[in-house]
Amino acid sequence: MSEKIGHNSELSERKKESYKIFDDIAGTYDPLNRFLSLGIDVYWRHRMKALLPKKDNLEVLDLATGTADVPLILIKNKHVSHIRGLDMSKNMISIGKEKIAQKNLSERIKLDIGDGCNLPEPDNKWDVTTVSFGIRNFPDFFKGLQEMHRVLKPGGQAMIMEFSLPTNILVKSLYLFYFRKVLPLIGNIFSGHGDAYSYLNQTVESFPYGEAFKKKMKEAGFQNITSIPLTFGIATLYIGNK
Ligand SMILES: C[S@@+](CC[C@H](N)C(=O)[O-])C[C@H]1O[C@@H](n2cnc3c(N)ncnc32)[C@H](O)[C@@H]1O
Repeated sequence: MSEKIGHNSELSERKKESYKIFDDIAGTYDPLNRFLSLGIDVYWRHRMKALLPKKDNLEVLDLATGTADVPLILIKNKHVSHIRGLDMSKNMISIGKEKIAQKNLSERIKLDIGDGCNLPEPDNKWDVTTVSFGIRNFPDFFKGLQEMHRVLKPGGQAMIMEFSLPTNILVKSLYLFYFRKVLPLIGNIFSGHGDAYSYLNQTVESFPYGEAFKKKMKEAGFQNITSIPLTFGIATLYIGNK
């Protein structure tokens, strides 16, 4: 028990500066993501795009935007006008900016340094707030949820995509084998970082998902909360309104 508490507090400490890990692995983040997820993560982001509100001129704020994979897919939705992406890792953002410039989208997608737990944004500004595979890295994910809620317009929509664990026992065992043994090994070797992908695995297994996460969204003020399991529940897309 005390070992678990020690482990959890060590994880909390690392989360305070998790963006530094992403600064270190930014150069290999995109290719490794595609390889380790077998490209499924791209399909998940497209699900997010399809579930955006059907309302014109949407202004979207994407937290923990990383290398801009979410903005670059959401911008293809005909209802989206502009996207602002925020992240604490300057190296991830600089790769994101290059990708955006290559697609001539710099006028419609802007990236800046910004903390998901302390958004540099006024209240009631955005139609949609999104975060994909970022919120579990925040030092205080509940603060992140409250911030997403605060900056949304009344009636606005938050979309949170995060890893979860499959409910089917067989799928869960296979997945956990891959996730605990294969993924950290390949990730750590190819990223050149001692333990970035071991950290990834620890943050996922200790993070609330399903009903527990929906309860936190409700406490943060969201309504009409739904969750959509993706690919056997390996990830979940949570949607809620202000
Ligand atoms: C796994 S990456 C996800 C990137 C992107 N959303 C995607 O779907 O590929 C997690 C990101 O969270 C960022 N991050 C960690 N702590 C943060 C914080 N407090 N505020 C904003 N971003 C943060 C990291 O720098 C990293 O880019």
